[in-house]
Amino acid sequence: EKGGEPHFMRKEILEQPRALRDTLCGRVGLDGLPRLEELALGAGEARALEHVELIACGTSWHAGLVATRHLAELARLRASAEVASEYRYRPALPLGAEGGGKALVVAVSQSGETADTLAAMRAAAAGGARPVAVVNVVGSSIAREAEGVLYTRAGPEISVASTKAFSTQVATLFLLAAHLGRLRGTLSESGARELLAALGRVPDQLEAMLPEVAAQARALAPRLLDKRGALYLGRGYGFPLALEGALKLKEITYLHADGYPAGEMKHGPIALVGPQTLVVVVAPQDRLHAKTLSNLEEVKARDGFVVAIGTEGDRELARLADAVFWLPPAPEPLNPLLAAAPLQLLAYELSVALGRDVDQPRNLAKSVTVE
Ligand code: M6R
Repeated sequence: EKGGEPHFMRKEILEQPRALRDTLCGRVGLDGLPRLEELALGAGEARALEHVELIACGTSWHAGLVATRHLAELARLRASAEVASEYRYRPALPLGAEGGGKALVVAVSQSGETADTLAAMRAAAAGGARPVAVVNVVGSSIAREAEGVLYTRAGPEISVASTKAFSTQVATLFLLAAHLGRLRGTLSESGARELLAALGRVPDQLEAMLPEVAAQARALAPRLLDKRGALYLGRGYGFPLALEGALKLKEITYLHADGYPAGEMKHGPIALVGPQTLVVVVAPQDRLHAKTLSNLEEVKARDGFVVAIGTEGDRELARLADAVFWLPPAPEPLNPLLAAAPLQLLAYELSVALGRDVDQPRNLAKSVTVE
């Protein structure tokens, strides 16, 4: 059942190319443009939207945070991603046509059974929204109660630490952003074609890089056994990835880990940096690359051990980091799909090296059905 792997988590990480192919299947037309008829959202409705509210917990919330950036870039929509346990109890603001809010509410959940996400979705519906859901488990409570569902098609995820669910959520939400961008006229046909063609290449790119990344993570883990904690840094699309990397590490190694926007480093977290701090920096080639590198210089000056995730051929990054996981070149909005796997494999190998229970970490359940 683990497909010959020692743990479900490793099996599920390595399955991501297949899972992503399933996510994309039939959702990009022969014309190379997004097809999300399953959502039944008309152009008029899409143009009237003023903002998007994503609600989720844990890893699904991180996928929502990635999507806020995709929605801004592709569909010129203001978007927020809020933790469901906060959303459900905040003062209710009108969301429907009568309130004039014109918000699209999107619940994101692997299991479709997370109590807080379900309750937040109900609160949004009570406020006049017609929530849609991005869910993995078919027929789950959230899928049944939503007005429209986009299934992520990751297949069953058994390991408590979510991996393939995350990348398929990111890909599904990316398609949603591209679809809204087309309906709203903010994403040109040629722009959409280019992005979706690049998206179509991601499963092959991942397949090609995974063996090397897995071997590298295995070799690296023994060098990290003396680390007392970890700081994950990233900017733009890299920031939600930093949060996700830190959550993976916390869950399955029990080491303390924090995710921060790299630009916040000077506002506090740099005090943590020293030889026993692992600093993981998500630094693919993007608009903010130079700024992230200068943060890295400051970490090196304080003897932090730096593991970087960067784009092939980046000599400057290779010079500054103690180890680098290399990603193939991709358009900036697609970097999260490539950067997730090294973060997952790093946490996985360190968990194994520390002798932790990888698939069933202490104190955690796969789906949190009580608040
Ligand atoms: O099933 P959901 O996506 O709603 O679950 C949300 C979180 O409980 C989940 O992502 C959790 O944070 C994972 N264990 C993270 O690896």
